[in-house]
Amino acid sequence: AFHKHPRELHLQSDGPFGTWNLQQLQRGYQVYKEVCSACHSLKFVAMRDLEQLGYSEAEVKAEAASWTVPGVDPDTGEATTRSGEPTDYFPSPYPNEVAAAAANNNAVPPDLSLMTKARHDGSAYVYSLLTGFQEQPEKLLEEFPQAKTPAGLHYNPYFANLNLAMAPPLTMDGQVTYADGTEATIDQMAQDVAAFLTWTAEPSLPKRKQTGWPVLGFLLFATILAYLAKQQIWARVK
Ligand code: HEM
Repeated sequence: AFHKHPRELHLQSDGPFGTWNLQQLQRGYQVYKEVCSACHSLKFVAMRDLEQLGYSEAEVKAEAASWTVPGVDPDTGEATTRSGEPTDYFPSPYPNEVAAAAANNNAVPPDLSLMTKARHDGSAYVYSLLTGFQEQPEKLLEEFPQAKTPAGLHYNPYFANLNLAMAPPLTMDGQVTYADGTEATIDQMAQDVAAFLTWTAEPSLPKRKQTGWPVLGFLLFATILAYLAKQQIWARVK
C-alpha cells in the first residue's frame, strides 16, 4: 500500500472520558449541509436526530423544512419532491446510482453515515482526506509512471487508490459562515465535519464509554466479594 496513514486528529469524543462537543458537531452539520450534501447522503441519520446536537424541537422542524426530499404526489402517485420533515433521513441529491455516477466521473459518492467506521482510523481519515489534496510527488511519478492521476481524478495520498473521483470539496477559508462565529478555515471545517461524521456513525459513543465505568466498578466489587467469600469458606481448612 502506498497511501499514507491519516494525520492526527484530536476530538473531545476521544478517550475513555470522551464527550461530544455539541458546538463543534453543529458546525460540522453546517459543513455537511452546505458542502457535502451536494453529493453525499446520510441515509441512516434522521433529521430529528439533530435534537441530540442541542437544537430545539422547533429548530429541528425548521431545519428539516429547509431540505428537499423525494416524495410521492398524493394525486397521481408519481415521484416528486417535498420539503423535509423531522422523520426524514438526509437524502442523496441523485435519484439513483446511475445518475450519481454520471455526475461524478463514474464514481458514486458513498453514503457518509458510517464512513468514520468504514475506514481505518475513520475520523482522522476524513479530516486527512479533506485536507490532503495535493500535486503528485515527482518521486512517485518517476518510480510509477502508471500511477499518474488520470484526467478527472484527483491525487490524494490518504486515499487507498491515491487518485479519487471527488474534487477537493473544501477549497477556501470562509467557505461556510459559522453560526457560532468560529473562523471557518479549511482545517477547521475539515475537523468539524470529521467530528460530525464521528457522531453520525455512533451517536451513543460517550454513553457507551460512560457505561463502562460502573461496569468496571461492579466487577471490582464482585471480585473483592468473591475473594472474601473464598477466604471464609476455606477458613477452617489448614
Ligand atoms: C468520496 C467525504 C463533498 C463527491 C468521499 C469519501 C469521503 C467523502 C469520506 C470516501 C473516500 C473513500 O472511499 O475512502 C466528503 C465530505 C465532503 C464531501 C466530508 C464535504 C466536506 C463532496 C462533494 C462531491 C463529492 C461536494 C461532489 C461534487 C464524491 C465522490 C466520491 C466521494 C464522487 C467517490 C470517490 C471515489 O471513489 O473515487 N467523499 N465528500 N464529495 N465524494 Fe465526497
